[in-house]
Amino acid sequence: MASRRSPLRRSYDRVARPYALRFADELDDKPFDRDFLGRVAAGVSIPGWTVDLGCGPSQIGGYLAALGLDVVGLDLSQAMLLQAGVLRPEAVCVQADMRALPLAPRSVAAVVAFYSLIHIHHTELPATLGEIHRVLSPGGRFALAVHVGAETVHRDEMLGEPVDIDFFFFDPEALATVVSRAGFTVDSVETREPYPGGVEAETRRGYIVASR
Ligand SMILES: C[S@@+](CC[C@H](N)C(=O)[O-])C[C@H]1O[C@@H](n2cnc3c(N)ncnc32)[C@H](O)[C@@H]1O
Repeated sequence: MASRRSPLRRSYDRVARPYALRFADELDDKPFDRDFLGRVAAGVSIPGWTVDLGCGPSQIGGYLAALGLDVVGLDLSQAMLLQAGVLRPEAVCVQADMRALPLAPRSVAAVVAFYSLIHIHHTELPATLGEIHRVLSPGGRFALAVHVGAETVHRDEMLGEPVDIDFFFFDPEALATVVSRAGFTVDSVETREPYPGGVEAETRRGYIVASR
């Protein structure tokens, strides 16, 4: 796992509480995302856990759990997982690095990665997607959301806290090609415009669903 000294991990530990306060109810104002997650949940056709990968405060996993999935939240940041426990006291959580998943091969039904692959450098992306493919059962689903673009945004302040975080943006079609090269069948690639009025960071969003 990334060491305690990892700037990314320390940054999310620092920002966990304000992040949870800011985003716990975000889906209330995001009809596309609610619809997308509803479709993802309906498409999980085999029994087993759904991993909320890079779960943060677990608002996405909570939504999926309310739709009937058995969700385990996985995150690098211990403080984020504490916030997940505040938001969802019943949440099952594990602290781990998605680049080396502590899960058996073919052991989970689905993996949902909302805005967490955005922290994986492109050189580490094929191996990380390979990890996700390794742990998914045949017939399992993989869904992800990213910011659309070509840039890398570095932030040294987030929600009033000092941080050291790189956000990697993606071309969804190019990302779908990398997903496919990791062994997945890509089922859909969608984009949407940002929701205005402070609902979210005003970036275009990309969504991919793939199957193992
Ligand atoms: C932008 S937040 C997204 C949180 C939540 N999924 C959401 O949609 O609001 C990114 C999360 O990914 C986690 N993360 C980043 N890199 C990770 C890694 N290598 N392994 C596991 N979690 C990671 C961070 O700790 C953080 O909680």
